Amino acid sequence: MTTQDPRLEALDKSIEEHGRRPSALLEVLQRAQDLYGFLERDILIHISKALNLPPSRTYGAATFYNLFRFRKPGEHVVTPCLGTACYVKGVEEIVSAIEEEFCVERGQSTADGRLSLFVTRCIGACAMAPNVVLDGEVIGKATKEAVLERMRRSLGGGNGERV
Ligand code: FES
Repeated sequence: MTTQDPRLEALDKSIEEHGRRPSALLEVLQRAQDLYGFLERDILIHISKALNLPPSRTYGAATFYNLFRFRKPGEHVVTPCLGTACYVKGVEEIVSAIEEEFCVERGQSTADGRLSLFVTRCIGACAMAPNVVLDGEVIGKATKEAVLERMRRSLGGGNGERV
């Protein structure tokens, strides 16, 4: 079952929780990366506007720290949510199944660059837990079988080489 991508909503919620304070820039950037796996241009601009900062300041801060990524690391990105609700509903079993079938560890990409596996904290769709985001599409009430099947269709099979 899929739902609309709630990541932008979750990011905006985080921005509000920080009172839209420019001083919360790093926390907001971190939250965005947790949600999206990397910081794409549109998201940086969105954050700049929300925090009322010039884009140059946002880019400057983001590039200063090594912990931020700016490129989509793999052709496909799968991001299971490891927030509490999803964890309780068994997302860890799904993560392990992805790691095993596609020979990729969390936070890494396959050697052929076809798949990156990231994990995130709550994406704000706890009612649909466990959630897995595959290429921007949220798979709610995810099961190991459904996620692997969807991934096989997108990637054309597992068992890539581990990086
Ligand atoms: S904990 Fe996964 S969506 Fe909230």
